[in-house]
Amino acid sequence: MPTDFDVEIDRLSTESTKFNKYKDLDILPLWVADMDFQSPAAVVEALQNRVQHGVFGYTEASAALKNTLVARMKTFYNWDIQPDDLVFFPGVVAGLNLCCAGLLQEDEAAVTATPVYHPFFAAPENQGRELKRFPMSYEAGTWQFPMNALERASVGNSRLLMLCNPFNPIGRTLTRTELESIVDISVQNDLIICSDEIHCDLVLDGRPHIPTASISEAAAERTITLMAPSKTFNLAGLGGSFAIIQNPLLREQFEAPRAGLVGNVNLLGYTAMQAAYADCEGWRQELLRYLEGNRDYLSNAIENIPGIHMSPQESTYLAWLNVAELGLNDPPDFFEQKGLGMSPGEQFGDNRFMRLNFGCPRVQLERAVARLEAAVSSAKH
Ligand SMILES: Cc1ncc(COP(=O)(O)O)c(C=O)c1O
Repeated sequence: MPTDFDVEIDRLSTESTKFNKYKDLDILPLWVADMDFQSPAAVVEALQNRVQHGVFGYTEASAALKNTLVARMKTFYNWDIQPDDLVFFPGVVAGLNLCCAGLLQEDEAAVTATPVYHPFFAAPENQGRELKRFPMSYEAGTWQFPMNALERASVGNSRLLMLCNPFNPIGRTLTRTELESIVDISVQNDLIICSDEIHCDLVLDGRPHIPTASISEAAAERTITLMAPSKTFNLAGLGGSFAIIQNPLLREQFEAPRAGLVGNVNLLGYTAMQAAYADCEGWRQELLRYLEGNRDYLSNAIENIPGIHMSPQESTYLAWLNVAELGLNDPPDFFEQKGLGMSPGEQFGDNRFMRLNFGCPRVQLERAVARLEAAVSSAKH
């Protein structure tokens, strides 16, 4: 059965983190990054078959799953990896923290471009490590990765570049030229790159995603790539993710701090991951067309809302809205009062913005847009 992305699904009865936040309140949940769609039928069926077996002992990644991932990297990115390069763990956030714990000595720092997914701030801090932030620049209507700022941040005790590509929350996907410059600067300054590519399968309009590590041998030598099926196939509650680490020393350093603390992916996570990557490309393509439709609908609507500007959306289902011109004292509170539960930009490092999740049936998005229009016209009076 193909997924009908237009169908609204009740999530309130499922202890959904996204919906629980505003339980019993008339506030549309447009915040945390999961979608309000059912996962592909092939994933649901694979999970049902696995549950039917009835024995749920300790489990590990199968050779079939590793081969699926090796083949996927070759087909999608012409990137040659080996099964032994794969490390599985329950969630990309754990991977960000493992990078900071395993790769940074006490006096060493991570560097990152902002705004960015907030666990990028927390991961170095959790390990008592310094984080040097530099802002993305907004030029000619698009966000640019500021190479000069990266160069300046890379000197001294900097050791780890934490890169988010595709970018949550700004929706950019870095080009090969940008990635080549980032890799060059990293090589010159001997930075390891932690490349969070969890949104790699959500690039819109047929643009390519290019894994940082696939840029060159030098990039592969110094990059830890983090990926997961969770955003694309809506599996976040199953906690399954993986790293690709071609340099054995980096692999060892990444794995060392997990001992006794970060366990394995649970068996349903593995089952879903295998089905999603092996059998759901058609579903993913349909999803992308649906998200492009939602993105276009939202950006057209926002063009007609004075005081709000939406960043160009190349990837992800997370729109980054500049609301500064509205002159609000407390934008998150204002929008909640108006029935819109978006993520505060401050979480990501820029309080002029709000992040709106449009991974939902169109009718839900239409409701959100109607509230946004009403909210802005009330703000003006
Ligand atoms: C860039 C990025 N990394 C990681 C995650 C979360 O990953 P996980 O749920 O696998 O820990 C998210 C979720 O929104 C994300 O946007």
